[in-house]
Formats: sequence, C-alpha cells, structure tokens
Amino acid sequence: MDIKHVLNTKQFLNEDLLVDIFKKADTFEKQDRENSVPKVLDGKVLACIFYEPSTRTRLSFESAMLKLGGGVISTESAGYFSSAIKGETLEDSIKVIADYSDAIVLRHPEIKSAERAAQVSSVPIINAGDGGEEHPTQALLDLYTIRKEIGRTDNIKVALVGDLLHGRTIHSLVYLLAMKENVEIFFVSPKELEIPESYKEFLKSKNIKFSEFSDLSQVVSQADILYMTRIQQERFSDKKIYEKVKDCFVLTKDMLSELKKEARIMHPLPRVKEIGPEIDKDERAAYFRQARNGLYLRMALLSFLLE
Ligand code: CP
Repeated sequence: MDIKHVLNTKQFLNEDLLVDIFKKADTFEKQDRENSVPKVLDGKVLACIFYEPSTRTRLSFESAMLKLGGGVISTESAGYFSSAIKGETLEDSIKVIADYSDAIVLRHPEIKSAERAAQVSSVPIINAGDGGEEHPTQALLDLYTIRKEIGRTDNIKVALVGDLLHGRTIHSLVYLLAMKENVEIFFVSPKELEIPESYKEFLKSKNIKFSEFSDLSQVVSQADILYMTRIQQERFSDKKIYEKVKDCFVLTKDMLSELKKEARIMHPLPRVKEIGPEIDKDERAAYFRQARNGLYLRMALLSFLLE
C-alpha cells in the first residue's frame, strides 16, 4: 500500500487498493476463526491516543494489533490523562509518542488534527476521527460490510440518515461511495443537520445521483442500505437545537415492514434511540456484524502499514 498516513478516504479512491485491503481482512477473519493469525507485527508497538471517548475504534485497533503479535500503548481521555492538560501542544506530544511507537492511532476533537499530527510524525498517523470531519477507517469497514452483507458495492441505493452535518462516518463514506458504479444516495436529516455543501459539490462533480429528505419513511422502501446515525449531542453549541432534533429519526418495526428483504440496516454505533433493541433480532440488522468487521479491516490496515 503506497500510503504512509491514513488521514481521509480520498486516499483510498482506488478499486485495486480496496480489493487488496478487503481480501486481507477476509483472510484475517478466517485465520482468526481457526486461531492461526500469523504474528507478523511481532516487536512493533501501536500507540492509541484518544482525546475523545471510544469503544469500538480504540479497542478494535488494540485487539487487531495484539492478534497480529504486536504491542499497544494507549491513553484515553488524552486531554486529561496526557501532558495536554499541562499545556503541551498536539505537535509536541506526537513527536514524542512517535519515538515510542511504530504507528499512532489518533482521535481528536479538532478538524484537521490528524493532518497536523502527520506533518510532525516520523511514524504513520491513523485518523480515528478528527472532530466532525472524517473517520476513514470506519468508512472502509462500512464499505467492507456492505460488500459482505449484500455481495456488491455497485448498483446500490444508500440512505444516510441522521446527523449529516457532524457525522464524520457519513462524510468519509460519501467519498468512498462516489467511486462506485450506479450508486444513488438519499440524505435524510432535519434541516439543521443537512450534509454540508462541499460533499454535494463533490458528488455532482462525480455525477453521483443524490436527493435530500426530511422524512425517513420516504426512503425506507427504496434503500438497499439504511445507514442510521446518532444525533451528536456533544457537537452542538446551541443545546436548544439539539433538544429540537434529538429524536427526529427512530426506526420502527412498522417501517421495517417496508424495508426490502435483502436490504441491510447499518449504524456505526454507538446508538441512542434511533434503533431500539427490538430491531436487533431482524436478520437485516447488520450493525453488530459491522462493528466486528472493524477488527478484521483494522488488522488488514495495520498489516499493510507496518509489515
Ligand atoms: N463507530 C465508532 O467510531 O465508535 P466508537 O466511538 O465507539 O469508537
């Protein structure tokens, strides 16, 4: 893989590269089930530096590194439990951590923080979420999940639902979907949380068909992939707006009766109220399988970056 840092999904707009990554993830899943993952990263160290909370991204990266024979150093709540609390800049922290590790997974609340880190880092930086901008490894595992679940990533209709303004997983996934053939995107959000103009301009430049809705029930019957997201309370400066929109889209059992039999419901998780636990038993509910795929996709990425 001719990529040093994983900063955004525009770096992955290459079909051959995606096929290689997905095949490697398939192989690691098979080897993991057989308890035969090769320890190809023996002696390497991964630093997971998270200034924002995480369950899936941090722990799946850590698990991926351990399964491949490497070691992990990490800090969660890095804004409090690293020397950032004493005033150390992100750049100084990264320069030091790069001397202790072979790659750094970074989650930070500021847009472009991963790019800033990459400018001073001697080891690969993996963007695990930079504010409301991008979350490239999530989008890669999302596309990988679509391929596994419905057997194709071309000729699909994808409904992206919820907080499209702050949803970094949505932003990263839009770029990946735009490289596929005959994809149609339905953006479903309240007016206050519409997808930013730059993403629409990008889709227009690639001749990707898209439309915008404010009512979830208008798209459920058409979607092959129903990608739900959480309204991100932590990104609102005006809490009154959050209160107004927080429960705007809830997937109900009635709506599921409209969903195609072969369609899939995805969610990057964590969820709040947009998908209740009563939906989990539906075989179209793919979000926990999606989270598991993150482990294998991240094993593949680490192997490409560090072997
Ligand atoms: N999907 C995702 O990024 O989950 P976490 O915030 O738990 O890492």
